[in-house]
Amino acid sequence: MKSYRPKPLQNTSPYVIAHRGISAKAPENTLASFEQAARIPGIDMIELDVRLSRDEEVIVLHDRTLQRTSTGNGPARNYSMDEIRRFDAGSWFHPMFSHQHIPTLSEVLQQVGDRLWVDVEIKSDWLHREPPGLLEKKVLDVVHQCNMDDRVLFSSFDHQLLATIKNMNPSLVTGILYNFSFDFGRSPSTLAERVGASVFVCARRELTHSMVEDAHSHGIAVYVYTLNSIHDAERMLTYGVDGILSNNADDILDVVKNHDA
Ligand code: G3P
Ligand code: MG
Repeated sequence: MKSYRPKPLQNTSPYVIAHRGISAKAPENTLASFEQAARIPGIDMIELDVRLSRDEEVIVLHDRTLQRTSTGNGPARNYSMDEIRRFDAGSWFHPMFSHQHIPTLSEVLQQVGDRLWVDVEIKSDWLHREPPGLLEKKVLDVVHQCNMDDRVLFSSFDHQLLATIKNMNPSLVTGILYNFSFDFGRSPSTLAERVGASVFVCARRELTHSMVEDAHSHGIAVYVYTLNSIHDAERMLTYGVDGILSNNADDILDVVKNHDA
């Protein structure tokens, strides 16, 4: 698998990124969801969310608490990885996925890392501040141990965390997530350049043509989330975005890949 080197794409269709895996058809952020994505030719990347367990394992889980997507309850940070592994992370979606558990980042990278690029979205927990640098170091260590340094996009709403990652290893690729409440009024290039990010990731309702123009004129790629319908994908293709995150990446693949960029 070739290295991931994001830049504004010219004459090429945008990357298709499976948001939390094929999360419309399998439980989000599980190996089942990522494996589905890996088996579909044309999907370039998966997105997943990471945070820490009590014993500081990097786990793949969107919410700070367990109950929406597993049989666990309360903050994941209060449980060891051994405890977390015992929860059923699939039945809430469909009984056929009852054997799915909350995976570690390492498990996911080992399973699909040779077939896909991975957007590792690092979740800051505002109610449980980690010691400075701890979360960043734990994530970087896992990615490095899995030989994925050149195939991962590190993304976060917490831009300071991305600055720390660039300080730890300037060759890693980072992407800022646009947080409307904090970031409104600042251009994508200003936000990205102050932490050395190469990608600007934005919600579809917040993205404007001028934001795309600003990012592209500074060599920054633009990814947009979460586009689940062909209609939304078609509209965003007219903006000239470089990546599209979707819960049903398989369904929008044709419209995106056939688009005349
Ligand atoms: O990375 C884009 C998107 O995943 C950010 O929002 O809440 O789905 O993690 P969320
Ligand atoms: Mg995410």
